[in-house]
Amino acid sequence: MADFIKNQWYVAAYSAEVGREILGRTVLGEALALYRTGSGQAVALADRCVHRHFPLSRSQLAGDTIVCGYHGFTYGPDGRCVTVPGQQRIPRTARVATYPVAERDSLVWVWIGDPGCADESRIPRAPWLADERYVTVRGMEPLAARYGLLVDNLLDLSHETYLHDGSIGTPEVADTPISTEVDEEQGVVHVSRRMSDAACPPFYARSTGISGRITRWQDIEYRPPCLYLLHSRVAPARVLPRPDGSDPDGFHVEVVYAITPSTEHSTYDFWAVARDFALDDEGVSQFLHDSNRMVVLQDVAALNVLEQVISAQPPGTQELSINIDTGGLAARRMLRRMADQAAAGAEPVPEPASVP
Ligand code: FES
Ligand SMILES: [Fe+2]
Repeated sequence: MADFIKNQWYVAAYSAEVGREILGRTVLGEALALYRTGSGQAVALADRCVHRHFPLSRSQLAGDTIVCGYHGFTYGPDGRCVTVPGQQRIPRTARVATYPVAERDSLVWVWIGDPGCADESRIPRAPWLADERYVTVRGMEPLAARYGLLVDNLLDLSHETYLHDGSIGTPEVADTPISTEVDEEQGVVHVSRRMSDAACPPFYARSTGISGRITRWQDIEYRPPCLYLLHSRVAPARVLPRPDGSDPDGFHVEVVYAITPSTEHSTYDFWAVARDFALDDEGVSQFLHDSNRMVVLQDVAALNVLEQVISAQPPGTQELSINIDTGGLAARRMLRRMADQAAAGAEPVPEPASVP
């Protein structure tokens, strides 16, 4: 049984992916059929017809209803069956489950768990993705690995130096120590790495036009289980924000990942890169899209291999952790506690814990 954390919001899709074609996605092992009603409301139904379990995501919309592609059972957006073939009487049990859905910041969040506990105010935010002062490029790559491997990967960016050499990695990333802070009350892991005099990798050199050394800040904000934010600031070396807090000489990139467990051994890797410079430059958008996608695919390849290795190991095989793992270990602890609380049926209430 997979170690899923229920009673949480997860990103199932980008808003632009949910429309008048039915989209099939599996989140926390639950197969979903997503679509948008004529009035624009995104809905998620269980992706299994009650009759013979044909996937509703392989079926057609008729107005706001789904007509099962096998024998025509027809369901409304509330999951209720409104038509069955060959008879007037609709069995009382003819309905499929529905899932709470909410759209924020161009993301479609779905609540997996007790629908009565779905509190939209708890959806973590990524406002840059829907802010006209930023331009965003984005994508989603499916990962054939458990989601915890992607959490480890994103919480420890020292791997950029080795896995992403030539695009975003430079020696200074691995060489610069991190600081880690855990905000138990808000449920956030912060990992910060600030390089004052670093080589400028092509990802930033070509997008910002800076030549020469840079000041490079990587401030991670992970809101378990699903949302990961990397606040990235790049400026010419030793150029800092002004004393009043303004930062006209800095280039800001907000990198957003949504880490959505699909099955026990597969994950949706949603990625987005929002920037506050070169807003009208299509060439920069294309470059950042292609570069970030290449970086994500490098991670995907590495994690897919790692999943195979880990799956073949006996349970309890030891790892060796060092300073760079502080953020990842803090994230694992928070996820473990959330999983335990969700399994116990409790609201996830953070409790004090220390960072090693
Ligand atoms: S499987 Fe859907 S109508 Fe038969
Ligand atoms: Fe990576």
